[in-house]
Amino acid sequence: MREIKFKVFRFDPQKDKKPYFKEYTIPVKEGMTVLDALIYIKENLDPTLSMRYSCRMGICGSCGMIINGKPELACHTQILELKSETIEVEPTQNLSVIKDLVPDLRPFFTKHRNIKPYIIRDDREEMEKPTREYKQTPEELLEFLQFSYCIKCGLCISLCPTCSAYDDFLGPFVLAQAYRYSADSRDSGFEERLKAIDKTHSITNCHFATGCSAACPKGVDPALAIQFLKKIAVAKSLGGFKKKVAEIAPAPPEKGPNKDKYPPAPKPTV
Ligand code: FES
Repeated sequence: MREIKFKVFRFDPQKDKKPYFKEYTIPVKEGMTVLDALIYIKENLDPTLSMRYSCRMGICGSCGMIINGKPELACHTQILELKSETIEVEPTQNLSVIKDLVPDLRPFFTKHRNIKPYIIRDDREEMEKPTREYKQTPEELLEFLQFSYCIKCGLCISLCPTCSAYDDFLGPFVLAQAYRYSADSRDSGFEERLKAIDKTHSITNCHFATGCSAACPKGVDPALAIQFLKKIAVAKSLGGFKKKVAEIAPAPPEKGPNKDKYPPAPKPTV
C-alpha cells in the first residue's frame, strides 16, 4: 500500500468564479485504477466530487478524462503504472464543463445524430421491415470495421486543434462515424450524410494533426476516416463517386442439404 497525491480539477459553474485544483492523498494498492481512486475520494473524503462512469471496463466511454496531461479512460488507467507520486486529473478538453470532471458532450451527440449514424437504403421498405439479411463479404466488412469500435468517449476531441478553433466543426468521432456508415457496403446514404458534413467548418478544415487517432483508447483512426471522407466528397463533386450497394441475400431453399444431413434432435426422455 502506497500513498499517492491526486490533484483534481474542481469547478461548479453554479457557485465557483473559476476552476481550481483540490488535493487529496489516498492509499493505493496494486490493481487500483484512477477511477477507483476518484470513487474512493467521493466515498471517503469529499462527496461533492462529480465524475461520470458506468461500465468500469473500458466499454461505455463515460470516464474519459485528462490524466497527467494525456487523454485516457479513468477505468482503464492503472495508478501504479503511471509511475508518478502526484496524479493530476482534469476533464476532457475543448468541451464545456457541467461540473468537475463531467464534460458536456451534448453538442457532439447532436452533431452525431445529424450525420445519420445508421444504415440508409434506397429500398426503404426492406430497410424498415427487413425480410432477409444483406450480403456482405469479409473484405467489405474490413472497409469499416475499425471505425465501428468507437465508444463515443470524446477523448479525440481533446487533442483536435480544429475543435478548439471552431465550435461548428463536427469533430473526429462524428466524422469517423460518418465514414463508418458511408463505407458500409449495405449503405447508400452518403449523399444524405453529406448535407450535414458539408458545412462551413467541415472535413476540409481538418489539418490532419492526427491527435485524435493518438488519443483513441480503442485504436480507431478518425484522422484516416476524415481523409477517406475527403476523397469520397471530391470524387462525388467530380462525378466519379459510384457505389454498388449490397443486395439482400436470396431466400434459403425450402429443403436444403442441411435438412437431410442433420436429422431432428432426439426428444428428451425425462
Ligand atoms: Fe465505462 Fe470507463 S466506466 S469506459
